Amino acid sequence: RVGNATNIRWFEVMVEREDKERLLGQRGCMLWFTGLSGSGKSTVACTLEHMLHELGHFTVLLDGDNIRHGLNKDLGFSAEDRAENIRRIGEVAKLFADSGAVTMTSFISPYRADRDMVRERCRPGEFLEVHMAVPIEVCEARDPKGLYKKARAGLIKNFTGIDDPYEAPLAPEIAVTPYDEEGNMRSPRQMALQILDTLQE
Ligand code: PPS
Repeated sequence: RVGNATNIRWFEVMVEREDKERLLGQRGCMLWFTGLSGSGKSTVACTLEHMLHELGHFTVLLDGDNIRHGLNKDLGFSAEDRAENIRRIGEVAKLFADSGAVTMTSFISPYRADRDMVRERCRPGEFLEVHMAVPIEVCEARDPKGLYKKARAGLIKNFTGIDDPYEAPLAPEIAVTPYDEEGNMRSPRQMALQILDTLQE
């Protein structure tokens, strides 16, 4: 028995992950962006994907708002729904990483346990947590979709950072900060370059 299904068993394939990676000339991995709404997850992930593509890598980008228009359109923002959102995305991302793609996901993924669950599904070194460590004051001041304003006015309930928790990663592989050493705001391109440098290392 697996989950709710009986009489099923794993089917062994003939073309292994390693065969696909050899064909692509790269290793599959999962870059898991996490951060508050307005922290720049999607912009930086998108910029990084473009850079990697230009360097000749095969990439896949799974993005919050887009996935909620299709695969996860049945889910809302309760703790259970967010957990299911992340579980499904983790499974999809794993399929792509197993196919050799540099796979990027861009979701708030606010709960540590949900992110850790995905990490546990991965091989050692395959899962790289990328924390967009932008303070809520900065995200709220940006408010690109006007959602913080609505949440403060009580028009959106369970909004991450306002009346729903955001559990920051304790030991992310990559922590992206919005400011450089001189305290200047860094551009999405600079942040993407920071991640790229770490990947190349
Ligand atoms: S989660 O928590 O990982 O399941 O969320 P995610 O799938 O990334 O979706 C986040 C986007 O949905 C919009 N939105 C909300 N965010 C947080 N809390 C509440 N209650 C909420 N309602 C709608 C919001 O536009 C998020 O997009 P980003 O790009 O993060 O701003």
